[in-house]
Amino acid sequence: MSIVFHRNTRIFTLETDHTTYQMQIDPIGLLLHLYYGPRVEKGEDMSYLLQYADRGFSGNPYEMQHDKRYSNDSLPQEYSVCGAGDYRLGALLVRQGNGAQGLDLRYESHKIVKGKYLLPGLPSVRDEDQARTLTIDLFDAASGIRVRLFYGVLPSRDVITRSVQVINDGRDAADIEKAASMTLDLPYGDWDLIHFHGRHTMERMPERMPLPHSVVRVGSVRGMSSHHHNPFSILCEPTASEDAGLCYGMMLVYSGNHSQEFEVDQAGQTRAVCGLDQETFGWHLESGECFYTPEVILACSREGLNGLSQIFHRLIRKNLCPPRFRDRKRPILINSWEAAYFDFNGAQLLEIAEKAADLGMDMLVMDDGWFGDRDNDDRALGDWTVNEGKLGMSLKDLSERIRALGLSFGIWFEPEMINEESVLAGEHPDWILCEPGRLPNMSRKQLVLDMSRKDVQDYLFAAMEKVIEEGSVSYVKWDFNRALANVYSRSLPRERQKEAGHRFMLGTYSLLERLTARFPDLMIEGCAGGGGRFDAGMLYYCPQIWCSDNTDALERIQIQRGTSYGYPASAMGSHVSASPNHQTGRSMPLETRAVTAMAGAFGYELDPGQLTDEEKNAVRDQIARYRSLQDLVMNGTYYRLGEIGREGDQAAWLTVSEDKSEALLSLVLTHVRSNPAFPYVRLKGLDPHALYRDKKTGRLVSGRALMQGGYSLPAMYGDYPAVQVHFVKEG
Ligand code: DGJ
Repeated sequence: MSIVFHRNTRIFTLETDHTTYQMQIDPIGLLLHLYYGPRVEKGEDMSYLLQYADRGFSGNPYEMQHDKRYSNDSLPQEYSVCGAGDYRLGALLVRQGNGAQGLDLRYESHKIVKGKYLLPGLPSVRDEDQARTLTIDLFDAASGIRVRLFYGVLPSRDVITRSVQVINDGRDAADIEKAASMTLDLPYGDWDLIHFHGRHTMERMPERMPLPHSVVRVGSVRGMSSHHHNPFSILCEPTASEDAGLCYGMMLVYSGNHSQEFEVDQAGQTRAVCGLDQETFGWHLESGECFYTPEVILACSREGLNGLSQIFHRLIRKNLCPPRFRDRKRPILINSWEAAYFDFNGAQLLEIAEKAADLGMDMLVMDDGWFGDRDNDDRALGDWTVNEGKLGMSLKDLSERIRALGLSFGIWFEPEMINEESVLAGEHPDWILCEPGRLPNMSRKQLVLDMSRKDVQDYLFAAMEKVIEEGSVSYVKWDFNRALANVYSRSLPRERQKEAGHRFMLGTYSLLERLTARFPDLMIEGCAGGGGRFDAGMLYYCPQIWCSDNTDALERIQIQRGTSYGYPASAMGSHVSASPNHQTGRSMPLETRAVTAMAGAFGYELDPGQLTDEEKNAVRDQIARYRSLQDLVMNGTYYRLGEIGREGDQAAWLTVSEDKSEALLSLVLTHVRSNPAFPYVRLKGLDPHALYRDKKTGRLVSGRALMQGGYSLPAMYGDYPAVQVHFVKEG
């Protein structure tokens, strides 16, 4: 059993293959957190870790006032509340009918059931055979607020998921002012925080810092998970490296505003609180209504950062992404964006398609610019009708001709957006998010639709359905090119305006849900100006996400490396683009661009008409190579080689197949020097007793030698040279 409740000690124990999680109902019904970490013996009682001390100015629950050592402010809490004597980070703040905000949550009941809970309207980790759910009800008698804590235990994935339902069982209406998805108290130890910051075209850069004695907060108020702060963070021991040391990961399954807060208290105890951003969120609860928080995925590994990443990779691939794409080969696509931007017609696309087919690709994606009167990024978003004048043919015709070449057909949408200059804006000005009496904040000259409205969702569903049917579309690139501002919904009353941001996300999820149900074989690739919504929420609907608008291989290596801390290679849309690169102007060898793009869901983003014959042959070779490696890249165990910030002159990564029968080492020299050191790496995760052959040189080396002695390569010269070494187990 992966969830056990011990009646005498009143301890809940949650177990995965390698971790244990414990909490205890204390004598007055408060739920205390006891332990989360590497697995301990079955039946172990971790309550010996609780320490009681009279810390000045840390008050006591009323029943415990005779015991000054008992304080909510110092004991580890399972789900912390604001305003009731725990002065550390709170997870829940509810303004009650009488204006009071304190909550005194006491254990009421619990249930242990087979299967993993699901959250209405929200993406969450999918059920699987061994999964179990624990729900614990906590109740505040004075207000009638009930808090239901959800725990999903996936033993073989080594993951525990958490979410919270807030139920107003009181007589009066109440307002939720903060509702985080979890509190995690780590009473002992010093921790480094690794979070992932960035910007447009440079997403998910890891930053590692020791936690100070204060509150550190990362998050987003942009209405999107954002390029700037990913909803994923890690706490690790200060000595933790890529391959050793205790690490905890927290990943929110959400694509909107979020917050990850960390505090070290007066006694050196660490608390993490993750969930919806507080400033931009509120939820009104009439008597009898309830609210669900997004889910957070928790994992713990003592196998260092690579070990932690591998847990998230497996979980996302197997239990989060749409199951129908789990084992399906992804198409090697060519996307029209960097080939033509807005400047194309049907004939030109057919020319690109013809060349792409000749090179061996699988799909042509028509990017932005095919609808309304859109010839630049100023206009027409929202008018999802095909511009046959521009294409010079119908969508049906274009798609049929592309498919006749042996390619499938994909198309770009930016459903949640609208331009002022569009037919839709003229017809439905009330569908736009905008505060009354104010001029809206503009970004890329576009505004945002109020996705909380059912009529908006219905319009988008019908418009997209029509295009997808007409064009026999098998792939949609779902873009999102501005942050939200002026978040005000004309369909909500005053007391519900703070709900607009979260309702926007629920509306987007609902549309994604409907479309994927209507077109089960349609593959949706997420995108938000590149990687502005690279999160577990979108990955529930999209097996892959365009990783960044930056296609410069040297920078992509960093972006993909940063992304890999939380997300698998199979989720990273990654393309070979032209040289010099359109974002940086840097020239890169074609092979280096390909080796970099092969670290994810591979494709091309260039005009194949510009390739020389020699380059065309190289592309043919790359495509054939990727096809033979795709399974390994997408489903293998991924290792970053080299420590954060100490990679030296090379970037290297390794994928080992689950059965350890093959491995792919990729290495790019990021700085070529005269009279240089030899490129060198130590491999990981191989079978020490097996022999592996380097397919290029024919050299045969044991797995143990490759992991202990490593592998060296001849010196490499020129601009950013790259190499792939494919090792295959013999016998
Ligand atoms: C941003 C995307 O990331 C690009 O790839 C491209 O689709 C443009 N939007 C189109 O406007």
